Amino acid sequence: MIFTVAIDGPAAAGKGTIARAIAGRYGFAHLDSGLLYRAVARKALDGMSAEDAARGLDPSDLSEAGLRTAAISSEASRVAAIPEVRSALVHFQRAFARSEGGAVIDGRDIGTVICPEAEVKLFVTASPEVRAERRWKELTGSGADTTLDAVLADVHERDRRDAERATSPMIAAEDALQLDTSAMSIDEALAAAAAHVEARL
Ligand code: C5P
Repeated sequence: MIFTVAIDGPAAAGKGTIARAIAGRYGFAHLDSGLLYRAVARKALDGMSAEDAARGLDPSDLSEAGLRTAAISSEASRVAAIPEVRSALVHFQRAFARSEGGAVIDGRDIGTVICPEAEVKLFVTASPEVRAERRWKELTGSGADTTLDAVLADVHERDRRDAERATSPMIAAEDALQLDTSAMSIDEALAAAAAHVEARL
């Protein structure tokens, strides 16, 4: 069976949690496409050109360890604005989306550019304040030393870069279900997402 679930939205809106849960529930493969840009960012911070890093990216570069730092988040949104970086990553994502047995991909441009033909499209949002608080709890919970204000500033800056870039800006597909999780519990958000998938299976 070929079945693609495309989940887009800004940082810390809940799309990763929803993507993992949907993949687990239906036995679909899951790709967090942000890891591709983070892995490119890490190589760029090590001195490689971002274009070369994207062209030579290997699945073994995608292990999550060390890719979630604030420095890599910020560099990822910078390299993600480079058209050659984005185009070098398209083929891998499209092939993944059509993998046998179903796939969930979360990111910024999955329903618009990578998989406009996806069977299910979700655009998950939440207010910047709610997202910053979630991310701040996550970061401090794993030992990082940061303030809520610094995380909120980072959320605003990444939103701006992701939404304003010329190539594949973050935007909801016209046929995406928009899910604002600001006032939702995780269970409520998952239930809404699963109902949408269920209706299309
Ligand atoms: O989702 P995550 O926060 O890990 O993504 C890191 C950065 O990678 C984002 O801020 C965005 O600039 C970029 N990205 C993108 N397109 C995607 C996924 C992530 O531009 N499909």
